[in-house]
Amino acid sequence: MTACEYKPGLEGIPAAQSSISFVDGQKGILEYRGIPIEDLAEKSGFIEMSFLLIWGYLPTKEELEEFEAEIRYHRRIKYRIRDMMKCFPETGHPMDALQASAAALGLFYSKRALEDPVYIRKAVVRLLAKIPTMVAAFQLMRKGNDPVQPRDDLRYAANFLYMLNEREPDPLAARILDVCLILHAEHTMNASTFSARVTASTLTDPYAVVASAVGTLAGPLHGGANEEVITMLEEIGSVENVRPWLDNALEKKSKIMGFGHRVYKVKDPRATILQGLAEQLFQKFGHDDYYDIAAELERVVEEKLAHKGIYPNVDFYSGLVYRKMGIPTDLFTPVFAIARVAGWLAHWKEQLEANRIYRPTQVYAGLHEQGYVPMDQRKSEIVS
Ligand code: SDX
Repeated sequence: MTACEYKPGLEGIPAAQSSISFVDGQKGILEYRGIPIEDLAEKSGFIEMSFLLIWGYLPTKEELEEFEAEIRYHRRIKYRIRDMMKCFPETGHPMDALQASAAALGLFYSKRALEDPVYIRKAVVRLLAKIPTMVAAFQLMRKGNDPVQPRDDLRYAANFLYMLNEREPDPLAARILDVCLILHAEHTMNASTFSARVTASTLTDPYAVVASAVGTLAGPLHGGANEEVITMLEEIGSVENVRPWLDNALEKKSKIMGFGHRVYKVKDPRATILQGLAEQLFQKFGHDDYYDIAAELERVVEEKLAHKGIYPNVDFYSGLVYRKMGIPTDLFTPVFAIARVAGWLAHWKEQLEANRIYRPTQVYAGLHEQGYVPMDQRKSEIVS
């Protein structure tokens, strides 16, 4: 293996052969099972889209109704998991709470039958059904309240908002959240999906696979960016301050949260759709200057960084949408995780269908033939 074959971050290196989604970073194209994301955002729903990702085709009416009914039935979580979550510090980040509770599911469903389609479907239903309940439960418990039970008469996104806010959501907000879940569900070989496939390849249980992916998504360079975008907009504070703030940030070589992408060198098609959803929400629920600051920041970043192919990514406008829905900022990434579970499960299933455990190699950059130095001859090499 020569050093020239090594690519930091595996940039441009295929890590799997997959038929789940496709991205053209130059043309700004994203397809799930060959269907353009724009069509799915306009015409589909999160549960129907999840079925498409995981089983590879759009379900019949009967299949969709059965899938939705199974997910409704499994939305509740074990009281022991709720009791465990009550011991979590309310100051802890909700992504850490989600990772711990997702892994805990494996304690209750420990039987593994990875070659059994019935087991696969059960695990898919349980994870899609229970992740939103766990996110909402932690939110209520960290406020000192008891979590509320899911409502079977509400559809997926509406039920999540109900469990989160203890009141029925506005229909527009519920529909817009459903579209956001579609947009965030899958995106080829991103870091958290790669984690999911590596973990799946060892034939561990699907709950460990999702817990591994949740931990990866939490980072600010990946799923954590949407939370950072709101913090950034708050720091900018006004449209007039956008340009001076950006000049200062670029001078410090800071990464502008919500911008840039390893694959997209044009505006992320999901950002375009999310921008439209944000406009709908601001029209209905009242305008505030966050949107104006974001729009001005997009204009000035394009002026300064378009030559590097740096444009808004999915995280830039999603935070504005979630904030307008009253979702707390540190829950933005858990909402991303609720959606991406569908993609992780699709990759888990696909990995099992043609599995080979991941074990890449390395370019060794260390020393050889070093002697064992006696204690009295050693000196510290830590530079404080
Ligand atoms: C997601 O992979 C996926 O598909 C992810 C995702 C998904 O759906 O799963 O799309 C979701 O994670 C979106 C990305 C969210 N992250 C952020 O918004 C954080 C800010 N973005 C950057 O950290 C960055 O753009 C990355 C991490 C997203 C991509 O970085 P790359 O491909 O490793 O690019 P790089 O760091 O090598 O930068 C290349 C150049 C550098 O300039 P030079 O040193 O060549 O002069 O572009 C610059 C970088 O400084 N650059 C940025 C920038 N991103 C890249 N400069 C300012 N602000 C930025 N955001």
